[in-house]
Amino acid sequence: MEQYIIKGGNPLVGEVEIGGAKNAALAILAAAIMTDETVTIENIPDVNDINVLLEAIEGIGAAIQRIDRHSVKINGSGIRDFNIEYDYIKKIRASYYLLGALLGKYKKAEVALPGGCNIGSRPIDQHLKGFRALGAYVDIEHGKIIAEADRLKGSHIYFDVVTVGATINVMMTASMSEGLTILENVAKEPHVVDVANFLNSMGADIRGAGTDVIKIRGVSKLHSTTYSIIPDQIEAGTFMFAAAATRGDVTVMNVIPKHLEATIAKLVEMGCEVEEFDDAVRVVSKGDLRKTHVKTLPYPGFPTDMQPQIGVTLALSRGTSTITESIFENRFKYLSELARMGAKVKVEGNSATIEGVKALSAARVSAPDLRAGAALVIAGLATDGVTIVDDIMYIQRGYERFEEKLASLGAVIERVSTEREIQKFRLRVS
Ligand code: EPZ
Repeated sequence: MEQYIIKGGNPLVGEVEIGGAKNAALAILAAAIMTDETVTIENIPDVNDINVLLEAIEGIGAAIQRIDRHSVKINGSGIRDFNIEYDYIKKIRASYYLLGALLGKYKKAEVALPGGCNIGSRPIDQHLKGFRALGAYVDIEHGKIIAEADRLKGSHIYFDVVTVGATINVMMTASMSEGLTILENVAKEPHVVDVANFLNSMGADIRGAGTDVIKIRGVSKLHSTTYSIIPDQIEAGTFMFAAAATRGDVTVMNVIPKHLEATIAKLVEMGCEVEEFDDAVRVVSKGDLRKTHVKTLPYPGFPTDMQPQIGVTLALSRGTSTITESIFENRFKYLSELARMGAKVKVEGNSATIEGVKALSAARVSAPDLRAGAALVIAGLATDGVTIVDDIMYIQRGYERFEEKLASLGAVIERVSTEREIQKFRLRVS
């Protein structure tokens, strides 16, 4: 198993290029099969989740042509199999976007039921509610979701909870369902808007994405397009909090500052200087950081995917902060790892109290999930001494060349996999 080994204590300084948004790319790659023509997608991040989904898409018969690390051509005309195996869903839940895409195009799909994961139970009842409202027969048999329809007809659907996945999945199916579909109480994340824009570039008729109500007029066919994925605001925010926690000066390049408003607001509240440019944001952190109170909310609120990153930074800020995690029920596991580095934290239900300390102490910790893993790397970067983060396969699911990008900002970090490499690193930095 690979680890990151970090010699912390250096402020991160410099510029870092942000890649395409993983959570937009996963949905867009699935939606690309909804036409029999060739679709070209650019600015996709080269991360494990994307590569697994491309395997799943190829596995059902679509043609995949990797143009380069960040661009791919997909042609869905050869699809013969409408069954997504459990193996793919087990690796990445987002394979369930193929359910919405296949159902919309072929009026049938079979996808293994996704389990929960490290951050919560993550039910998909709202996805199924939407498919049924569009006229599909949906049943769960032997751990599989089976969805089929003689015809799909537009409907007026009100989601019981704001859910990114269900908003996107049902929007995909509705884009090829006859007539008008109105979706209410929808997610407004930038990646929801990106999927709507992508589908519209293929000839769909979707209006209102990014607002509380999305109106979709179904079309019978979709056509080819060339589309570039939006920048990943979560990757950008991760580097912004790394700058704050290490008292650095980092500019994240190729971002959409508007997508980072909640993150920027919190960094300013905590005492950072933040400068916004057209497609870049600079974060400068000098002196002490201040406490703050955070509640994660659907966009445009503070993103749950940034909660571990602000949590680590608050552990090194003056005063006592609180975090309320309102989206997922189990997203504080990183705090027990952080406590092993000397953080003063208390978790009660979906809220955590963090009493800032002057410094953490380097230790060996393990990544419980993708964003928590990235947050523990930030903790190591901000702490004198040698920190080792285990189970970094979680981090590699969503961060491309993470250690290389951090090293380009002055971090002393390496990916290792043997005790011998760890000893060599310790000798080199001691
Ligand atoms: C997406 O997950 C992201 N993943 C998550 O990012 C992100 O944390 C989440 O949205 C919230 O922004 C991808 O886009 C691949 P939800 P998703 O449906 O779609 C409940 C990362 O780090 N819910 O918006 O699964 C659910 O339990 C990952 O990149 C239902 O009750 O999230 C949760 O409490 C982690 N019924 C809340 O809604 C449903 O049918 C939000 O979930 C669906 C969801």
